[in-house]
Amino acid sequence: MTLISTNDIDIEKAKTSKITAVDFNNLAFGRVFTDHMFVCDFKDGKWQKPQIMPYQSMTIEPSARVFHYGQAVFEGMKAYKDESGNVFLFRPDQNFERINKSSARMAIPEFPKDYFFNGLKTLLKLDSEWIKPGVGSSLYLRPFVIATEPAISASPANEYRFMIICSPAKAYYSEPVRVLFAEKFSRSADGGVGFAKAAGNYGAQFYPTSLAQKKGFQQIIWTDANTHEYLEEAGTMNIFFRIGDKLITAPNNDRILDGVTRKSVIQLAEDLGIDWEVRRVSVKEIKDAAKNGSLKEIFGAGTAAVISPVSAFEHADEVYEIAEVEDSYAMLFKSTLLNIQHNLSEDKHGWRYEV
Ligand code: COI
Repeated sequence: MTLISTNDIDIEKAKTSKITAVDFNNLAFGRVFTDHMFVCDFKDGKWQKPQIMPYQSMTIEPSARVFHYGQAVFEGMKAYKDESGNVFLFRPDQNFERINKSSARMAIPEFPKDYFFNGLKTLLKLDSEWIKPGVGSSLYLRPFVIATEPAISASPANEYRFMIICSPAKAYYSEPVRVLFAEKFSRSADGGVGFAKAAGNYGAQFYPTSLAQKKGFQQIIWTDANTHEYLEEAGTMNIFFRIGDKLITAPNNDRILDGVTRKSVIQLAEDLGIDWEVRRVSVKEIKDAAKNGSLKEIFGAGTAAVISPVSAFEHADEVYEIAEVEDSYAMLFKSTLLNIQHNLSEDKHGWRYEV
C-alpha cells in the first residue's frame, strides 16, 4: 500500500488542548471529542486534499442532501494503547472495506485506502495523549461520510465530506442489558440496507427502542421482517446465543451488519475449541431453551459494546431471566479480545495494527 505522506495532509494544530478538562474516569459514551478531526471533501469528481484541523463546528448548507435523504454512512473503530505507549487499531482493514461497501450501497463514492489509513495514523499521532492505557480504556473513532452538496433533488449528491472524529471511551453498556425480541417493528428487509452502516439504520431504531426502554429494556433484538420468527441482530451489536455448550449466531445476509467483533468471536470460538454454528436461530428455539434450562447465555458483540451480556429477554409479554453462569463464554471472549487489542497476548491472526 502506498501511503500519502503527512505532507499531503494539510495540518492545522489546535492552539491549546482540551484534555486537562476531561475526567477520564467518568466518560459517558461519545460525549467528549479530542482536539483534532480529519476532513476530506469530494468535489469535481474526486477526493480533494485531506485536512486535519482542530475539532470544531462546521457550516453546511441547509439544502445539503444528507439532511433530506439521509445519504450518510459511518464506521466504528477503536484505538488502544499498551503500557509502553504503543498505539494499536484492531482489524482496521475490515472497517475500511466495510465503509466502502456501505458507501457503494448508498451511492457514495468510495474513499481511497491510503487517505483512510494515513488520515487515521496522522490523527492518532496528534491526539495520542487521548488514548489511555489499560484494559477498558480506548479511543473510539468515528469515520463517516455525508452528502454535502446543496441540492434537494432526490438523487445522489456530487459533493461529500469524509471525516474522522475521536472520542475517549469506557464501556458502552456498564451493566448486562435487558432486551425485547421484536414482534412488530423491523430494522431491515431483504434487498435493503441492513448490512450497511447507513446512518438511517440507526435512526430508524430510536422510536421502537425508546418504547422498549419505557418498559425497562435497553435494546431490541431484531427479528426477520417477514415472519418475526428468527433472531437477527441487536442494532448496536450482533448477537450470540449459547445453548448447552454450543455457540450460535445468525448468518450474515443483506439484513445483518457484517460485524468485525462478530467475525472475531467466531474465530476465537474456533481457536478456543468451542463448538459453534452459524445458522438461523428462531425465537421459539430460544424460548424453549430458556424454559428447559439449556439456554446458558445471550450476548452482544460490537466495537462500542465489545461483548455485552444479556440478562433477560421479553417476547409475547413473557420475560425470561438468564442467570449468570460461572464458565461464561461472554467473559472469556471479552477478556481474550481485550488482551489481543491491548497487546497483552499473542496475536496469531495479525489483527493488531500498530499505528
Ligand atoms: C459500533 O459499535 O461502533 C457502532 O457503530 C454501534 C454504535 C451505534 C454505537
